[in-house]
Amino acid sequence: MRHLIDPMDLSVEEIDKLLDLADDIIANKEKYSKVCEGKKLATLFFEPSTRTRLSFEAAMMELGGNVLGFSSADSSSSTKGESVGDTVKVVSCYADIIAMRHPKEGAPFLASLKSDVPIINAGDGGHNHPTQTLTDLLTIRREKGRFSNITIGFCGDLKFGRTVHSLIKALSRYENIHFVMISPEELEIPEYLKEEVFEKKGLSYEQVRTIDEVIERLDILYMTRVQKERFFNEADYIRLKDTYILDMPKLKNAKADLSILHPLPRVNEIAVEVDDDPRACYFRQALNGKYVRMALIMTLLGLEA
Ligand code: NCD
Repeated sequence: MRHLIDPMDLSVEEIDKLLDLADDIIANKEKYSKVCEGKKLATLFFEPSTRTRLSFEAAMMELGGNVLGFSSADSSSSTKGESVGDTVKVVSCYADIIAMRHPKEGAPFLASLKSDVPIINAGDGGHNHPTQTLTDLLTIRREKGRFSNITIGFCGDLKFGRTVHSLIKALSRYENIHFVMISPEELEIPEYLKEEVFEKKGLSYEQVRTIDEVIERLDILYMTRVQKERFFNEADYIRLKDTYILDMPKLKNAKADLSILHPLPRVNEIAVEVDDDPRACYFRQALNGKYVRMALIMTLLGLEA
C-alpha cells in the first residue's frame, strides 16, 4: 500500500507517469468517468481549505466515485479528544482512500502508520503539500514544456509557505534550475531547506529582497500569500503582509513568456488587473489540481481506465 506524505515519496519516473496520466485525463475525460465506481474518498480537513478539498472531491466524483468527510476540526470527534490515529483507523473502515489536512506538521505521516487505506497529505502545517506540488509540476510542464533549464522566482512567505517547501524539494531533482528566493529577511526559507536541499545538492540559488531586481530574468514567478495563521503575533503579520504586490507596472520588464503561478488563495499579493494577462497561470493551475488529483487517486488505488 502506498501513501503520499512527502513530495519525495514519488520518484521522478513516477511523477512523469502521473503527469502523463493527468494529461491523458484532460484529453479524454469520458474514458475515466467510471474508473472509481464503488470507491469512496474521505476528506479529513482539520484546517480550512477551498481548492484542495473541493478539487479532491470533484476529482473523485469525475472518476465515478463517492466522497465523505469533514471540513473543520470543530465538526469532528477531535474536539472530544480523539487522536488522529484513532480517527484514521475508524475512517479506513468506511473509505478506500483518505486525504488529510492538519495544522500539525507530521500528522498525516502518523495517520499513515495507523491506516488500512492510502493516506494523502493535503497539507501539514508549514511543512509539506505534495498534491499542490503535483499541481504545480503539471502546470509548469503544460506551460513551459520542461522542468530543466529554468529560472524560477519564489516570492512572499517562504518561511511558512508549505507549497514552496514542497515544490523546491521536488524541483531539486531536475537539471540546471536557478532558484531566486524573494522575501523579507523575516520570511526567508527555513535553514533546514537551505542546508539540506540548496547546499547539500549544490543547487544554484540567490536570495533577494525585491521583485524589480530579478523580474527580467525569470521564466516562472511563484507568488505566495503571507501565512497569517502561522504567525505568532499579529503586529508582525500586519507589517509584512503587503511587502509584495505584483501589478502590471511590476511586469514591465518581465519576459513575454513568463509564467505567473500562485497556489491560491490570493490576498493582496497579485493585483486583479494581472488576471487578464496571458502570463497569469494561477486559475489554470487550480484546474490542473483537479486532474492531477484524479491521476493520483487512480494511481494509489491501483486502478486503470
Ligand atoms: C495553499 C496551502 O493551503 O498551503 N493553498 C492551497 O492548498 N492551494 C496556500 C495557502 O494557503 O496560501
